[in-house]
Amino acid sequence: MSEKQLSGEVYYPKQHVLDHANAKCQTLYDFAQKDYQGFWAKEAENLHWFTKWNKVLDDSNKPFYKWFVGGKTNIAYNCLDAHTQTFRRNKLALIWEGEKGESHSYSYFALRRETCRFANVLKSLGVKKGDRVTLYMGRIPELMIGMLACARIGAIHSVVYGGFSVEALHERLEDSQSKVLIVADGAYQRGKIVPLKQIADEALQRAASVESVLVVKRTGEPINMEAGRDMWYHELMVLPIAGNTCSIEEMDAEDPLFMLYTSGTTGKPKAILHTHGGYMVGTYTTLKYVFDIHEDDRFWCAADPGWITGHSYIVYGPLLNGATSFMYEGAPTHPYPNRWWQMIEKYGINILYTAPTAIRGLMRFGDAWPNRHDLSSLRLLGSVGEPINPEAWRWYYKTIGKEKCPIMDTWWQTETGMFMISPMPCVPLKPGSGTKPFPGLEMDIVDEEGKSVKPNEEGFLVIKTPWPAMLRTIWNDPDRYVNQYWSKYPGMYLTGDSARKDEDGYYWIIGRVDDVIKVSGYRLGTAEIESALVSHPSVAEAAAIGLPHDIKGNAIHCFVILKAGFTKSDKLIEELRQHVGHEVGPIAKPELIEIVESLPKTRSGKIMRRVLKARALGLDPGNLSTLEE
Ligand code: PRX
Repeated sequence: MSEKQLSGEVYYPKQHVLDHANAKCQTLYDFAQKDYQGFWAKEAENLHWFTKWNKVLDDSNKPFYKWFVGGKTNIAYNCLDAHTQTFRRNKLALIWEGEKGESHSYSYFALRRETCRFANVLKSLGVKKGDRVTLYMGRIPELMIGMLACARIGAIHSVVYGGFSVEALHERLEDSQSKVLIVADGAYQRGKIVPLKQIADEALQRAASVESVLVVKRTGEPINMEAGRDMWYHELMVLPIAGNTCSIEEMDAEDPLFMLYTSGTTGKPKAILHTHGGYMVGTYTTLKYVFDIHEDDRFWCAADPGWITGHSYIVYGPLLNGATSFMYEGAPTHPYPNRWWQMIEKYGINILYTAPTAIRGLMRFGDAWPNRHDLSSLRLLGSVGEPINPEAWRWYYKTIGKEKCPIMDTWWQTETGMFMISPMPCVPLKPGSGTKPFPGLEMDIVDEEGKSVKPNEEGFLVIKTPWPAMLRTIWNDPDRYVNQYWSKYPGMYLTGDSARKDEDGYYWIIGRVDDVIKVSGYRLGTAEIESALVSHPSVAEAAAIGLPHDIKGNAIHCFVILKAGFTKSDKLIEELRQHVGHEVGPIAKPELIEIVESLPKTRSGKIMRRVLKARALGLDPGNLSTLEE
């Protein structure tokens, strides 16, 4: 691969990286290209199956693909029990540091024990295979324990990001019909406390399916405990029912493991459904090869477990590989901008995987902060969530990686479950490009008609081969699954991104082509922000768009038409911002709200966001023939 001279700014792999790599990556590409199902089956054989599959892929009912058909397994068994039976029993599975500086670690043995205890608690509350359990907390070990406990007994977990608020949580509890909610009393964020239980109490007023609420004590602040519904986690975990062992549910490879809500083109967030078998094989394999996991690695994915990145690469991927996963509770710059660098030095982190927004946010504090620390344990770096601008890439590469750590820029989605476009350590890098599809995947960039576009032309990014960690459906809405992802071009999965491929076949992501806005790497829908705005008594109509922002990548700008009797004022605008924060969450608070008299609409009444965006950027709005007036 490195023989050919590539165009543009290229960073060829250094010898020490190639020498260290577990796999000769060209061999992987070649094997998978000849037989992608054979490639995934070979990887699946490294994991434990109670009963082996009889068919790798069943595509007889597209797009409802099935992987490892007939196989019986359990991802939690492969994350924990499989290791406690080996030399990894006493190896650290999780190292955690709280925002206030306290630290806990769990060996594989201890994490399995805590998971079993908690699984027994859930069972005692009547949670059974297939029941939904919602988890709503900050980045604390109990979140990982809760997810694994659900998986162990076959319950489907639904993690709601701790940065979401009342309406977002309510909607997710309601849609999933969760039986149990596991919530922390609060979460630390930049030295302040987010009152999670209080938010949950408000959301629970309208969530009739929830029978029990388990409360994890994190902050110790006074909270309301409703008799007969709310119980303390730490009190249940010491009861005799919480024994140290808990039998494992043998799951069909296609049985659901979790649902995770994400924003789409229209309407409410949708729950993406992932399974025990295929998701397990996908996350295990991609992490192993992309981040070249070695036995003594300490891997830090600095995302939040409330998003897919944390599910796949804080919890499942690292544990499946028997690695040590590091989790940090707080903000990168709290109390000072050296917090991350301090922890890399303290724990000897080998791999750091984060988002461009965090890199840009840290970069603005200058080189002195990282330079004060010994970062020599780092071997590989990673980026995810949005395109990384070359300036931030170079800073990450030089100042953090000291020009010896390649950067794995991984493109993927909640829906894909695993890395899709990504280099491996032996692939030459170009800043800002995720390079090429992972072995076993065929992807393309196509035009309106579904035909491949020429090199360097922009088009729609599509996936042409099924992959094991692919979403199986949208919970309760299989039609939306088909319509949203598979109906534009039959046989091709539509990602919702636009991209281009250069003359070397390297992919460059441009951005979303739908109504999704990526704010600091977080995925939000214009519909969620707009419906939060119109739920305020003063608002008649609202439109939200994303505009470029130096640190966040995109920032939310809103246009609002007031109802008769309300007048524009700074106070009202601030109230509207706070209202969106209360309904959706602080990440959704608009950067700017403009009060307007009218909004550009099509004749059928659809708001033309592209016109608003063009106007805000001072650009030509393009074809206006469908504009109402
Ligand atoms: O637009 C792409 C962007 O994030 C979207 C998926 O968001 P989400 O489901 O929240 O998952 C994020 C983490 C996996 C994609 O459609 N995106 C993700 N990774 C990259 C990216 N854009 C450019 N480069 C990336 N590496």
